[in-house]
Amino acid sequence: MGLRKILTDKDPALHKVCKPVTDFDKKLHKLLDDMRETLIDSNGVGLAAPQVGILRRIFLVDVGLDGNEIIEFINPQILETEGEQTGAEGCLSVPGKYGLVKRPYWVKVRAQDRYGDWFEAEGEELIGRCFCHENDHLDGIVYTQVMDRFLTDEELETDE
Ligand code: NI
Repeated sequence: MGLRKILTDKDPALHKVCKPVTDFDKKLHKLLDDMRETLIDSNGVGLAAPQVGILRRIFLVDVGLDGNEIIEFINPQILETEGEQTGAEGCLSVPGKYGLVKRPYWVKVRAQDRYGDWFEAEGEELIGRCFCHENDHLDGIVYTQVMDRFLTDEELETDE
């Protein structure tokens, strides 16, 4: 098992700009495998390396939303966005809370895979939101810094 501890936004690691990945080696693969396990274990949609204390430009997104289609994004860049959406957003590093955040509706990302090969992926709605949220983590930004406000308990109850 390779579960990693998820840091909360009180940890300084969540507020630093991460460095690019340069070595696509066994150590990176172990980190990615551990992050994958940690993401599935925590029932999250996305997980960024700084959330497990690694200050490198890496995030994972469960694009199938069921744990079976997790994409690894290394040295990602947001290439294009379209539209906008305002909705509830949460983060494994801010447990039990949700905020109202405006994001693009559709997002296209370019990134490297675990072997260093470049690929592109696009997502809309929740996945587009997640790409932006995770990419922000790599620049030390937690959603609470860009949200309009936290959602109240009453609002969360009516949403669900
Ligand atoms: Ni997050």
